[in-house]
Amino acid sequence: MTDELGAQVPRPVTRPRRLRTTQGLRSLVAETRLAPEQLVLPMFVREGATEPRPISTMPGVVQHTRDSLLKAAHEAVDLGLGGVMLFGIPQDKDALGSGATAPSGILNVAITDVVAEVGDALTVMSDLCLDEFTDHGHCGVLTPDGRVDNDRTLEVYAEMALAQADAGVEMVGPSGMMDGQVAAIRGALDGAGHTDVAILAYSAKYASSFYGPFREAVDSSLQGDRRTYQQDPANAREGVREVLLDIAEGADIVMVKPALGYLDVVRRVRDAVDVPVAAYNVSGEYSMVEAAAENGWIDRERAILEVLTSIRRAGADVVLTYWALEAARLLSA
Ligand code: PBG
Repeated sequence: MTDELGAQVPRPVTRPRRLRTTQGLRSLVAETRLAPEQLVLPMFVREGATEPRPISTMPGVVQHTRDSLLKAAHEAVDLGLGGVMLFGIPQDKDALGSGATAPSGILNVAITDVVAEVGDALTVMSDLCLDEFTDHGHCGVLTPDGRVDNDRTLEVYAEMALAQADAGVEMVGPSGMMDGQVAAIRGALDGAGHTDVAILAYSAKYASSFYGPFREAVDSSLQGDRRTYQQDPANAREGVREVLLDIAEGADIVMVKPALGYLDVVRRVRDAVDVPVAAYNVSGEYSMVEAAAENGWIDRERAILEVLTSIRRAGADVVLTYWALEAARLLSA
């Protein structure tokens, strides 16, 4: 073969492009599949709300009323999602996060509502953490000098787990990064006969700037940061250590969060364990794409599917994403 300058260039022996010729061929050899049943939709429900309220930092996401939450849950079923993850926004907050453990607390009543409507069709999960319920916004209760008290928080988490299990939840998602939280919750659940309630542990959860938009979503009152309990973004080995501890304590599914900046951690965890691995495509990851698309800087639908496929490719079996409904629609189109 001769190039345009007349020089001899060797002809390729191997042609990977051959398998990229048509959409049919590309689909046939795709290594990673994305399906609605692998997706979990996080949803917010606001106590006392009479209208769904838009969340300005997360275009397209709302704080639901109890009614609109059920409508969205039905949509999730119709589109074949694997689950929903519920977050509650209470009207009143206090230092102990009492709204989290009260049977009449917004998250607990919402769990009962959603499980009654769609609990047979998909998995109903609930966030198990105090940050939405405390007036100081931390994920645990505080010592008199203002530090997060790990072991007293475990007692509250145990109580919260029982309140959620009594409300009918199928899977709890402890997200507070307290040491020993999975063991405390598993022990409390088992002690009360709730042996079937599963635990999706937020095991490797990083202190991330990408939770920014979520803080508006839940009306967070946090001053300061969570760096004494959430992990340092610099650490990947430590993420695996946290995961192994959670499995030893009884976690059924382990999660890495956020997802996109931590795909290496997802991969390490996938390679290290045999339980299902989840990853949380968090609010900031969502809003970055939405903002760029709004400006016409990015092809929104392609970006959504690329983001979710990348998280699956890194090794996540399950992906929590605010795009779950939309992605399911795109996948079935
Ligand atoms: C804590 C919790 C947070 C998120 C999920 N659970 C916030 C935090 O740790 O500050 C963030 C989710 C997101 O950003 O989408 N209950």
